[in-house]
Amino acid sequence: MSVMSAVPFVRPPHVRLPVAQARRHTLPASEFRSLSPEDAVSVFEIEREAFISVSGECPLHLDEVRHFLTLCPELSLGWFEEGRLVAFVIGSLWDQERLTLDALSLHKPHGTMVHIHVLAVHRTFRQQGKGSILMWRYLQHLHYLPYVRRAVLMCEDFLVPFYQKSGFKVLGPSEVTVGPLQFTEMFYPVRGRAFLRRNSGC
Ligand SMILES: CC(C)(COP(=O)(O)OP(=O)(O)OC[C@H]1O[C@@H](n2cnc3c(N)ncnc32)[C@H](O)[C@@H]1OP(=O)(O)O)[C@@H](O)C(=O)NCCC(=O)NCCS
Repeated sequence: MSVMSAVPFVRPPHVRLPVAQARRHTLPASEFRSLSPEDAVSVFEIEREAFISVSGECPLHLDEVRHFLTLCPELSLGWFEEGRLVAFVIGSLWDQERLTLDALSLHKPHGTMVHIHVLAVHRTFRQQGKGSILMWRYLQHLHYLPYVRRAVLMCEDFLVPFYQKSGFKVLGPSEVTVGPLQFTEMFYPVRGRAFLRRNSGC
């Protein structure tokens, strides 16, 4: 080995790199943004672990994820840590007071309810408050969409207290069942809350 090749390269102090090359290419530590169809595979990876590995079923299959992220990306929210999806919510619009089987696969553009199809946190990030924080940010985001009157979801009974802590109220048993799974339907009054805030004097 020659002496030259053994010496580590040291850039002379007067030689500067072009700005773009000198800038460190770091991804944001934490970022919230709407999802796009390009995020569908990352979404489905989390769903696969959270649901399919547990019950063999999941709220949205890959094509349905792509479907909703194409039709109504503004009703989704992803939490990214250093560019990696760690938690997400996906919703679509619905136009009836209660959820029916059709609500699982349809987006009703003139609806005033946001049907939250799924909230999921990557396994390694659970029990750290991320699910609650993401839901809080999502509900704040819905306040800015003038056509949204309420958010609705259906969940298994053991998750009712979780959603109650986020401000959801129980509507009653859902008419929708998936195999042996039964659900409780819950709602969050998006416009009602805005009205109360405007008149609270705060
Ligand atoms: C449910 C879920 C979204 C909660 O997110 P998270 O970031 O873990 O929750 P947080 O840390 O914000 O809140 C923790 C609270 O959630 C509730 N909770 C979370 N998972 C629960 C479970 N499997 N059973 C019962 N309660 C649960 C508890 O009330 C817990 O409160 P505690 O700390 O006092 O026990 C997450 O566990 C998840 O992705 N699970 C798999 C997918 C799923 O079931 N999604 C919901 C149906 S669409």
